[in-house]
Amino acid sequence: MSKVTITTLLKYKQEGQKFASLTAYDASFAKAFDEEGIDVLLVGDSLGMVLQGQEDTLPVTVEDMCYHTRCVRRGISRSLLVSDLPFMAYATPEQALENCAKVMQAGAAMVKLEGGHWLMPTVKMLTERGIPVCAHIGLTPQSVHVFGGFKIQGRDEDNAKRILDEAIGFEAAGAQLLVLECIPAALAKAVTEAVKIPVIGIGAGKDTDGQILVMHDVLGISTGYIPRFSKNYLKQTGDIRAAIRAYNEEVQQGLFPADEHTFN
Ligand code: KIV
Ligand code: NA
Repeated sequence: MSKVTITTLLKYKQEGQKFASLTAYDASFAKAFDEEGIDVLLVGDSLGMVLQGQEDTLPVTVEDMCYHTRCVRRGISRSLLVSDLPFMAYATPEQALENCAKVMQAGAAMVKLEGGHWLMPTVKMLTERGIPVCAHIGLTPQSVHVFGGFKIQGRDEDNAKRILDEAIGFEAAGAQLLVLECIPAALAKAVTEAVKIPVIGIGAGKDTDGQILVMHDVLGISTGYIPRFSKNYLKQTGDIRAAIRAYNEEVQQGLFPADEHTFN
């Protein structure tokens, strides 16, 4: 099977083929997910929560992201590897350039950044220098203290319009992929139709081009708060590889997310 690149994902979007992604943080799980055909693997800064046991993603460092990116890179032969830059690693364009270079050299093929209009000049600068960017909008967990908690975004009209404008602005700035987190399904559909670049959703309904979940939620390892939009595939399959296959197939067939996983 040929390697997944941004061109592959663009083709999926144009052909209406849905695709699945998962977070991964080490070589062994990355290899299993890669072999089961998950198209995109994200080294998410969610590792602060699911690996390190922190309350949010804010304590994660660039060194943490590079370490896990190197681990995941060794497990991959086909999937596209995207890595997050953590909190305060891209507050200025100079920091962004320096830290993106580190995760790219650790093995990322694309870097994901959370933000809005303030970040667009940085995205343009990075893309021009050979660093592909995925922009993450909606509920951006690095801003949890600005939001006052992990809350659904884009519910009121002004907020919804801002999210749509941000998507269009990021595409114009050169972002090649978008992540939408925790927004109403109708808004996610409008965003997905408004841009040519592929859009990956989490808690954003079934109409985005792709879906992503945190691997610990898919495998039922997460304890405490389990988000309503996620699904435990281990429960229905009893086997890790079968769980990953079931998730991939349900996304590709448009069966996941169902209404019960969706905000309206
Ligand atoms: O860190 C992460 O796992 C993420 C995804 C949930 C999109 O950013
Ligand atoms: Na993240």
